[in-house]
Amino acid sequence: ATQAAIALAGGYLLGSIPFGYLITKAAGLGDIRGIGSGNIGATNVLRTGKRHLAALTLVLDALKATFAVILATTLYGSDAGLLAGAAAFIGHLFPVWLGFKGGKGVATYIGVLLGVAPAAVLIFAFVWLLIARLSRYSSLSALIATLAIPVALWIMGLPQVSIVMAVLTVISWWRHKTNIERLISGTESRIGDKG
Ligand code: G3P
Repeated sequence: ATQAAIALAGGYLLGSIPFGYLITKAAGLGDIRGIGSGNIGATNVLRTGKRHLAALTLVLDALKATFAVILATTLYGSDAGLLAGAAAFIGHLFPVWLGFKGGKGVATYIGVLLGVAPAAVLIFAFVWLLIARLSRYSSLSALIATLAIPVALWIMGLPQVSIVMAVLTVISWWRHKTNIERLISGTESRIGDKG
């Protein structure tokens, strides 16, 4: 129980580091929450026009979860690793530092996957890139990719990981509520468009 609590708390703290917010602030771009969609993720950092900062946000928001998984797995085994990864995802979406208003969890979702089932990251990337190619909607690409992953993991013979990722998918879909509304009304911004 103590180990689970440490994995949860450590994962949450790592996940709650809002890299998109910190990176754009450090670059002198002001508060990212006042730009574009107001989200702190890589997609919105891209709307500042700074591609390298968006890429850095994507990588760091992902790797903080991967690091949480690896650390907890090394200390307490793979169940704790999965728990820490899920906690990092929650930390990203609900960071105490930003009044519990964080991101939508796409990069961090990829980071959890990289830690618990690295091969599935290729599936995520394939689906995301395919939908992005067809639609140029970052949100739609993430919605479809996060839907595909639990199915893929189940087929890969990883039911426990599949169930946990399915829960993260539901939470991420819920955080994409306004994106889904904009997709339906045809007003969602496309990759390459400004805010
Ligand atoms: O990765 C988040 C993406 O799916 C949507 O971001 O900024 O367009 O709301 P945003």
